[in-house]
Amino acid sequence: MTARVGDRLSDATTMPTYRYAVFGQPIAHSLSPRIHAAFGAQLGIAIDYRAIEAGRDDFPGALAAFARGDGRGANVTLPLKEDAFAVCATHSTRATRASSVNTLIRDGATWHGDSTDGIGLLRDLRERHTFDPRDRRVLLLGAGGAARAAAFAFSDAGVRTLVIANRTAQRAHALGDALADATCVRVTAWDAAFEGGDFDLVVNATAAGHGGSFSLREPTFSAHTLCYDLSYGSTAQPFLDWARAAGATQVSDGLGMLVEQAAESFLLWHGQRPDTTAVYTEMRAPFTPRSPCGIER
Ligand code: ATR
Repeated sequence: MTARVGDRLSDATTMPTYRYAVFGQPIAHSLSPRIHAAFGAQLGIAIDYRAIEAGRDDFPGALAAFARGDGRGANVTLPLKEDAFAVCATHSTRATRASSVNTLIRDGATWHGDSTDGIGLLRDLRERHTFDPRDRRVLLLGAGGAARAAAFAFSDAGVRTLVIANRTAQRAHALGDALADATCVRVTAWDAAFEGGDFDLVVNATAAGHGGSFSLREPTFSAHTLCYDLSYGSTAQPFLDWARAAGATQVSDGLGMLVEQAAESFLLWHGQRPDTTAVYTEMRAPFTPRSPCGIER
């Protein structure tokens, strides 16, 4: 007998538990195994979801080994979202537009790629931060896979202005060109003297400062500017430290987006969308292990 999408715990004794995983580097501090375990417990679905350490060179081999070992679905995080796009044979429309994949679904002998980052970010902004991006001015730091998904989501949400800054200017311009239909987009230099006070939202989608300090030139933040970090789960969030030191009073560490994008991945794999409010609250609380969450290397 074969397990199917949505099999419940009561069937688990007679069916194999298919494997799910998150790949990235670094991955040791990823909350995704705990989030998916909590979703599974909530909906009575048996989950085997692990964190697998893999960099850009190792990722294709690690993913192939995972598939051979009954891997049915995967998430990827930094720095693999564009690499994940490349290994997928087919893609959803939203993944194709952003050239970014954070959710892989096994489809016969190949992978189908989707991107739930954009919808996860918008849900968290709207529902937990009562922030509607429509007609707002947004500064997006970064032009990698996570930034690309966020940029298309903001464009679809009808932002008034989207300014993109990335360390490698060429990558920022490529993203600006991909968003060419959206007249609101502007690309600027990474070290530009941002008028932070002009922005309603500043989103960090970079790995900048990990292992060191984060710095941009001459920031000023208005009381209403929300500073949002997409790097939740990292050992440190230097962007938020920098933003607070520069006067930002409204900050988000990105846990809400992490939970929301995970719920969308869960829906794609298991056919049910979990209640994210309960799991978000659980992830904010001190951790009590419910079962071992392995890290594979
Ligand atoms: P992902 O696909 O998961 O978003 P990525 O494609 O490696 O990961 O993107 C990482 C982002 O962090 C990029 O915008 C990268 O800038 P570059 O395009 O110049 O590489 C940015 N980044 C990483 N380290 C950085 C640093 N020290 N300073 C500024 N930006 C950095």
